[in-house]
Amino acid sequence: MKSGELLPCFIAIFAFLQLMVQAKMLHTFKLDQTGKDSSLFEADHVTYIKVFNASLTVRPLLKIIKAVPVEMCAQKCATTTGCKSFVYHKFALTCFLSKHDASEDGIKVVRRTKYDYFQIIPNKGKMVVVKGATIDKYDHLDKLDDISADRCAAHCKQLKNCKMFEYKVEQRRCDLTDLNHKDKSLTASIHRWDYYSLNDVPSIRMFLRVPDAYLRDGNRFKYIKECDVETCATTCLLTKNCIAFEHDTKNGLTCILLSDDASKVKIVRPTRNRDFYQLQQERGTMNIILGASINGYDYYPTTRGSLKECLDRCVETKACEAVEYKHSNRKCDIANVTHFDFTLKPSRHYWNFYEINGSQNLKEVKER
Ligand SMILES: *[C@@H]1O[C@H](CO)[C@@H](O)[C@H](O)[C@H]1NC(C)=O
Ligand SMILES: *[C@@H]1O[C@H](CO)[C@@H](O)[C@H](O)[C@H]1NC(C)=O
Ligand SMILES: *[C@@H]1O[C@H](CO)[C@@H](O)[C@H](O)[C@H]1NC(C)=O
Repeated sequence: MKSGELLPCFIAIFAFLQLMVQAKMLHTFKLDQTGKDSSLFEADHVTYIKVFNASLTVRPLLKIIKAVPVEMCAQKCATTTGCKSFVYHKFALTCFLSKHDASEDGIKVVRRTKYDYFQIIPNKGKMVVVKGATIDKYDHLDKLDDISADRCAAHCKQLKNCKMFEYKVEQRRCDLTDLNHKDKSLTASIHRWDYYSLNDVPSIRMFLRVPDAYLRDGNRFKYIKECDVETCATTCLLTKNCIAFEHDTKNGLTCILLSDDASKVKIVRPTRNRDFYQLQQERGTMNIILGASINGYDYYPTTRGSLKECLDRCVETKACEAVEYKHSNRKCDIANVTHFDFTLKPSRHYWNFYEINGSQNLKEVKER
């Protein structure tokens, strides 16, 4: 061997030794990939869902770490503030940490054979969503057409063996399945399916809640006695025309299903012993509750103008997630909070609440 070749050789050996040291350090934290086919990947207290041979559509920006084993990459993401997912180059051993993931609006996974994609699984109570991912070629329990993802989730919950569903946005189509990422490998879908796993999501999470309120002139089409709020929410999701409900606590628990809501003309008003719940909109549509507002923030000055100007102002303000608008005096408040942060209240002064498109889905991600 010529001496000129020795230096690169030493560097290679040094890099290799470094890898070994890092690998040894990893003994201190638990790593477990349950079986060859599973897409579940655990590092320390953080659990990832893995999509084989896939990368994310947005460029991973948070951090790039070279020449590390995948376990180290997972640990780095778990300990880096804001990291939600990472992409790992299997041959270059490069780790790309990202502050985005495939559950967010406009982001998904795509097939890239040199990479694997890993996304942090949210806590129980929040759906595991990986857009663009699928468990290919498995028999489905049931197929439903022209249905929202929220309603699809309720159907899955009702069905004994259902663990997850795949959803196709264009056709609003939903396939229910009896296995999930714990059992089988996820890959990038070439047929535009998105992956949803239930993760013990309560049905009331799909609704915006206004306590001590009712819908004025609401179309109440069904009353169910002795019904707790979660059962009421599930029943609403499973009932075709139900888009809101009221839960009355006065004479035993009564569930009242509504076929209209406070998003168009009817408004919520204050009352006692009754709470109003409105089904959240699908991705890309605003959540509107007329006659309600959120108390508890005051970060931006109030302005005056049309509702459109108010919404435009929100779009132009980076952290804005909702606006409150009062028609009588054209007052506009913008806010960096959604119904997940603060409780909505029926407004005595007739404010209206508008949560901008997709905020509810963004929140799912931000909450981790
Ligand atoms: C990923 O791609 C490799 C190479 O093309 C292939 O051998 C492997 O089976 C793929 N993995 C999955 C889970 O599809
Ligand atoms: C946001 O939602 C509104 C109404 O809910 C809709 O008219 C509008 O097209 C949506 N905007 C985008 C960018 O999706
Ligand atoms: C809203 O912005 C304020 C001021 O910047 C900040 O203190 C607060 O934590 C933010 N709230 C949320 C829910 O992001």
